[in-house]
Amino acid sequence: MVSISGQFVDRCVVILGGNAGIGLAAARLFRAEGAKLALTGRNADTLHAAAAECDALGIVSDMGNVEASRGAMAEIAEALGGIDVLFVNAGVGGFAPVPDVTEEFWDGIHDVNLRGAFFAIQAALPLMRDGGSIVITGSIGSVSAVPGNIAYAAAKAGLRAVARIVGKELLPRRIRVNMVSPGPTDTEIFKRGASAAEIEGVRSMLSGVVPIGRMGTSDEIARAVLFLASAEASFINGVDLYVDGGCVELL
Ligand SMILES: NC(=O)c1ccc[n+]([C@@H]2O[C@H](COP(=O)([O-])OP(=O)(O)OC[C@H]3O[C@@H](n4cnc5c(N)ncnc54)[C@H](OP(=O)(O)O)[C@@H]3O)[C@@H](O)[C@H]2O)c1
Repeated sequence: MVSISGQFVDRCVVILGGNAGIGLAAARLFRAEGAKLALTGRNADTLHAAAAECDALGIVSDMGNVEASRGAMAEIAEALGGIDVLFVNAGVGGFAPVPDVTEEFWDGIHDVNLRGAFFAIQAALPLMRDGGSIVITGSIGSVSAVPGNIAYAAAKAGLRAVARIVGKELLPRRIRVNMVSPGPTDTEIFKRGASAAEIEGVRSMLSGVVPIGRMGTSDEIARAVLFLASAEASFINGVDLYVDGGCVELL
């Protein structure tokens, strides 16, 4: 747990995809720092549990559905009045080699990770307070040539471009826009549909690949998110921070 800095006391923090993994870890840290939170996610059970734990507004909303994102922002405007920190974290994964990529597979990933993320940011902008901060979860996949990762990597690379241009357009409002790009992190994203043996196999394979010798934890990624969102990072704008145990720079 990070120490209480007081930097987020009564700040309105919205986490899109805040009911699991990295988003939930960030919700816990922001809550510990005194933030007022709104969380979104698709799974009503985990969302309501996360909202209760973090004393947050919980909104069931699919980021792949643009109208749903606009509706969620209207609810957030009503409840919180404005947004100081927007953490755009929701994302889905999926592997398929180039010949096997169908339009449905491609769209399923892009509708959430790129199109959905962009329109959610667009819907949030009128609520963002000047001087606030946007943090977007990217992925080191956007700069790594991992076979089978083409749809996901292309979506996250597109999101990197979105972050740059949104950040440039928001300069007059002093809203900083940065990305955190995790390396392999131990969350549900790589476990869905896999057996215990398969999960252990992937974990052990990834631990051998990551220069630091293990996967990251949700908490390690979340701490970087809080840093970029905070006044400690007041001169950091437009970066893509790799939180990856050295995968991009040391392999
Ligand atoms: N774990 C890694 O190794 C890794 C590496 C690089 C980047 N990332 C990125 O990190 C972010 C968080 O992933 P994670 O690892 O924490 O995985 P996770 O445990 O599966 O969490 C994903 C989060 O996104 C939400 N979400 C997914 N699709 C959504 C949608 N259509 N609408 C609203 N919410 C949605 C999920 O909510 P529901 O459960 O309700 O769907 C959940 O809160 C993603 O953007 C992912 O691409 C992860």
